[in-house]
Amino acid sequence: MCGIVGYNGKDKNTLHVLIDGLKALEYRGYDSAGIAYKNNGINIIKSVGKIDELEKKVDYNIKSNIGIGHTRWATHGSVNITNCHPHNVGDITIVHNGIIENFNSLKEELENKKYKFNTKTDTEVACALIDLFYNETKDIKKALVKFMDKVEGSYALGVIVKGDDNIYSVRKDSPLIVAKGDNGNFIASDTIAVSKYADSVMYLKENIIAEISSDNITLFDRDLNIVENDFKEIDKSINNTDKCGYDYYMLKEIHEQPKVFRDTVSSYLENGIDSLIDKMPDFTKYNRIDIVACGSAYHTGLVGKNLIEEFADIPVNVEVASEYRYKKNFYDDKTLVIVVSQSGETADTLAALRKAKGDNIDTLAIVNVEGSTMAREANILLKIKAGREIAVATTKAYSAQVAMLSLIALNLASAKGNIDKNEIKDILKDIKELPVKLENTILNPEYEKIANAIYENESVFFIGRGIDYALSMEGSLKLKEISYINSQAYAAGELKHGTISLIDEGTPVIGILTEDNLVLKTISNMEEVKSRGAVTIGITNNNIDSNFDYKIEIPKVHKLLQPLLTVIPLQLISYEVAKLRKCNIDQPKNLAKSVTVE
Ligand code: M6R
Repeated sequence: MCGIVGYNGKDKNTLHVLIDGLKALEYRGYDSAGIAYKNNGINIIKSVGKIDELEKKVDYNIKSNIGIGHTRWATHGSVNITNCHPHNVGDITIVHNGIIENFNSLKEELENKKYKFNTKTDTEVACALIDLFYNETKDIKKALVKFMDKVEGSYALGVIVKGDDNIYSVRKDSPLIVAKGDNGNFIASDTIAVSKYADSVMYLKENIIAEISSDNITLFDRDLNIVENDFKEIDKSINNTDKCGYDYYMLKEIHEQPKVFRDTVSSYLENGIDSLIDKMPDFTKYNRIDIVACGSAYHTGLVGKNLIEEFADIPVNVEVASEYRYKKNFYDDKTLVIVVSQSGETADTLAALRKAKGDNIDTLAIVNVEGSTMAREANILLKIKAGREIAVATTKAYSAQVAMLSLIALNLASAKGNIDKNEIKDILKDIKELPVKLENTILNPEYEKIANAIYENESVFFIGRGIDYALSMEGSLKLKEISYINSQAYAAGELKHGTISLIDEGTPVIGILTEDNLVLKTISNMEEVKSRGAVTIGITNNNIDSNFDYKIEIPKVHKLLQPLLTVIPLQLISYEVAKLRKCNIDQPKNLAKSVTVE
């Protein structure tokens, strides 16, 4: 969602630091952006669109040593200059990530106290509230405590105050880091925003106020006692954002999947299956697993469900986090709640994790971003090693999450004696050979041809049964998010119960056929749509005699690993379609990489 950066420096380099930081944070939101800096008073510059547009308005000759910046993903009020952050009311200027839920009632109260509002944002209300409390207390830290007591919802704030040389920050349910460098100190939504300039970082805890001066960062609790800090060195390798010759980050990340698979699984299998058992928690004590996630991470959960239920004989319930967090959950002390998240910051998934933990249920997080909130809060962490994923549409993190869920299924199946030594040997052989098979599948030249056949259509259907249905859902999401084609995924046998009415002459239907016992069934469903005019595209690991208009053959491997190969054509067909439709592949409209609001 929105991205925040702030700098209090010993040099006068603020404008460069803010623009660099916002560029690094652009993946979080790219509706509009703005900065506020001190130089003979507080100056604000805003712009709609990308950071490049904002940069055109910035005069780098202006010297300043304090500033805050923001890249917006609109929640309240449309995308325009007025609604864009920073917002200023009275003595206070702020940038905000999150949602102030009681902003309507607060606005009314503030209007009764003669505050006037120019925007439709909840942030302007937050700013006015801080200004009110600052006027009452004459102390910004006391004002922030009162603010925390009064507001409901989520926030990460960067605050500057007229006549005060510090930046102040507080947060709740939205991420924020504070960081130190030789030439000054920083706040940001993500370390990546400041890693070029800062050397050490810490995640700001909730209920803590950070006071950032040019040579120190001081933390206060709600009683305004100073509390200890815990800074860690920044891993500078995250600064590497080179596209390595690829046109888009998404394509680069698709090509990284063989390495990501190797990196993610290898440490668990150093000594074969024994080390997998040693290095993972004991899952046999659970008789039920809930997997909770959003978007593509939810789809990995559906793949995991198929594998864990089939190989480990444990019922797995997969739920969308935004539903799970508010519903009645039937978990008990023999339930493990697994949250899956690339960023480790997705608001709904985090809330689901906290709910389960609050009910004393064991939680495990499968997360990519080191040090993220979920990584820190879950009882058990299984970190995937996808490296930094920049494209908004996930590819390599999806695969690494699937790989981790496959390892959990393998661990359980082996611990419970559900698979024999020979099958384990075959699986380990397939694991060793998988990176090469992934590489070959990525290099299949057919994807462009298929993209050419479908890119002008208004809708595309994906069908499959069993695990192939879970993969259809990911294929469909990938296509719609980057190409804006309306696509739907259906369990292959379900289409004829209504949706088949949408199949017209030329409608593309992509069928996934990798489950041996279900392939013939899905072929029949493909025939049904073909006889109604559909263009059929089959993705299969079976040597089937079919009547498809297009066929993509992928290598056949053990079922625990098959999804990792099956997803490659889905990713690359979507990529090629989006390219033909001239879409902004890495930053699709309306989306953000890290969804930190509900
Ligand atoms: O960071 P997370 O894995 O928790 O994010 C979950 C979803 O927002 C994410 O997978 C989203 O669906 C992507 N745009 C998919 O490409």
